[in-house]
Amino acid sequence: MGNVVCIGAQWGDEGKGRIVDKLSEQADIVVRFHGGNNAGHTVIVDGIRTVLHLVPSGVLHKDKVCIIGSGCVVDPEVLIQEMEMLAARGLIDMASPARLVLSDQAHVILPFHKRVDKARETARGAGKIGTTGRGIGPAYEDKAARRGLRVHDLIHPARVSEAVRTGVMYANSVLEALGAEVYTGGELEQMITRLQEQGQKLKPCVDDCGARIADAIAEGKRVLFEGAQGTLLDLDHGTYPYVTSSNCLAAHASVGSGVGPHQLGRVLGVLKAYSTRVGEGPFPTELNDDRGEALRQKGGEFGATTGRPRRTGWLDLVALAYAVRINGITDLAITKLDILAGYGDLEVCVGYELDGVMLRNFPHDIQQLQAVKPVYQTFPGFSDVPERLDSLDQLPAGAQAYLRFIAERLGVRLSIVGVGPGRGQELVLNDVLA
Ligand code: IMP
Repeated sequence: MGNVVCIGAQWGDEGKGRIVDKLSEQADIVVRFHGGNNAGHTVIVDGIRTVLHLVPSGVLHKDKVCIIGSGCVVDPEVLIQEMEMLAARGLIDMASPARLVLSDQAHVILPFHKRVDKARETARGAGKIGTTGRGIGPAYEDKAARRGLRVHDLIHPARVSEAVRTGVMYANSVLEALGAEVYTGGELEQMITRLQEQGQKLKPCVDDCGARIADAIAEGKRVLFEGAQGTLLDLDHGTYPYVTSSNCLAAHASVGSGVGPHQLGRVLGVLKAYSTRVGEGPFPTELNDDRGEALRQKGGEFGATTGRPRRTGWLDLVALAYAVRINGITDLAITKLDILAGYGDLEVCVGYELDGVMLRNFPHDIQQLQAVKPVYQTFPGFSDVPERLDSLDQLPAGAQAYLRFIAERLGVRLSIVGVGPGRGQELVLNDVLA
């Protein structure tokens, strides 16, 4: 079939950006299908680090078409800034960005969504979710409430004015109830003018993305669907309410881009060789000690979007088995293996015990998840992972055993191994776009 959905199998930050960058060599089109600029996909090419929040990571390859699909929420200010950065580097043409396409059905993140996001978090106090503060949740709420502004409305000035007035009325009632600053009439008029200008700037990119992808597939082109966040942050299947407001699972690539599910192709689950989480919520294998700090420092585990320190912990095969099942993962990409080199013995969580009983499945009840005791299997540590790999044999025996155990236990073939952050520092064992 030649298409692939690439999703995060943990709590996000698995290194999807660099895997998508690698796979983009073979794909013709790269599609983001959910989320917004809460994501931060880092790609390092020739020592230059690029963090993309909205534009698909495939844009760093000059001949690829990159699509922001209908399931996304788009902050026009952030998108324009990202496009200007890419234009300054000669990667797109701002006046006619033919290879950057924005779905006319995607919803717009409006300035008041960000203010409401922050005010809600403040009001939650100790019970906060730890959102990125980018307005993601409130934008999806307005979408579900059927008063959101879609991209095809953004390019019509009169529609912007109408929708923003209604939106601010609702936002002000929430802000007032939360004791936060409400919008004045002057601010509202400025907001409308600014959005109308932004709409005109983005107009050349706007199109029917489902139709574009269907035409491309009919011509035999290969599509790479780029997930954001991760399985355990999925609105329905993650650790609710400590989740994001969109669906991160592979199946959503269909809904969020307007493509039939039979056309999605293989499902590549990306996971880090250990675990991290940013924001609040249960994390059974978390390391709240020096070892956790060492992992954070060596792995550079600080949020690409907010700069917040990420929580770190051991690899969790119970959570990963759940991710394999609910995404239908067919292939694994394991990243950051090099970070574990020289780290000493490694623990891998192979079961959860609750009140003396071994659980068969990842619990949906977060109070249970908070109370489980991870059961660990110990692996001897390894050192000296080579900077580049031509075959698995070049890895130390301990690293090979670690990878083999993960793939066998999850019952999924290992297709990509990452041993460093840069382009080319990965070994591809199977062609997932075949
Ligand atoms: P929101 O998506 O900003 O509403 O944040 C909800 C939760 O998802 C918070 O715990 C965030 O830290 C987390 N989150 C959102 N986007 C990402 C991401 O790209 N990587 C990791 N965590 C994320």
